[in-house]
Amino acid sequence: MKKKILLAFWTTDGHARSISERIASRLESNGSEVRMVCLRDEQPDPGGYDGVIVGASIRYGFHHPKVERYVNRNAKALEAVPNAFFSINLSARKPAKNTPETNPYCRKFLQKIKWKPGMAVVFPGKVDFTRYRGFDRVMMHLIMSISGGPHGKDTVVDFTDWNAVDAFADRFAGGGSLGKD
Ligand SMILES: Cc1cc2nc3c(=O)[nH]c(=O)nc-3n(C[C@H](O)[C@H](O)[C@H](O)COP(=O)(O)O)c2cc1C
Repeated sequence: MKKKILLAFWTTDGHARSISERIASRLESNGSEVRMVCLRDEQPDPGGYDGVIVGASIRYGFHHPKVERYVNRNAKALEAVPNAFFSINLSARKPAKNTPETNPYCRKFLQKIKWKPGMAVVFPGKVDFTRYRGFDRVMMHLIMSISGGPHGKDTVVDFTDWNAVDAFADRFAGGGSLGKD
């Protein structure tokens, strides 16, 4: 029987959706059936799935509060099956900040939530100045220039290591992602 996996994600500009789609297609090619849900649209019950992955991008230092509420409300159900979390942000483009322990957003998030994910990873995100408008554009220009990142007018850089995304999906499909606590 095919394993039923829930992949619940949060995106603002679409990159977390692209990463989720890549994970889903990789899991499907490994023989699972994947239901992708954007937490902006729905807060799905994790019950009834053989595994759950939650992923979210960072905006102004935080994962969206709806993501935090979702994982806190469902912590027990998430830990009852193989489960994993991935965080996406641009700070993770720096090798010294690309693990759950060294990435400040991911570390703080994991410290404050009730859920103890069986697996956690951080993926560097995408910068896309062609999409940014108004305040966000000004702030992203500032953030990227201060942190030594690309910040030209029409700059688009995808920092995601797609092989690492595939490797995460393969590791999840291979098991070993049940929470320990
Ligand atoms: C307005 C805005 C604020 C952001 N704030 C942060 C931040 O505080 N730290 C960080 O590392 N990345 C930050 N990012 C980068 C995003 O996490 C990154 O672009 C990610 O790929 C966006 O994913 P999404 O398309 O799923 O929303 C920000 C991006 C935008 C547009």
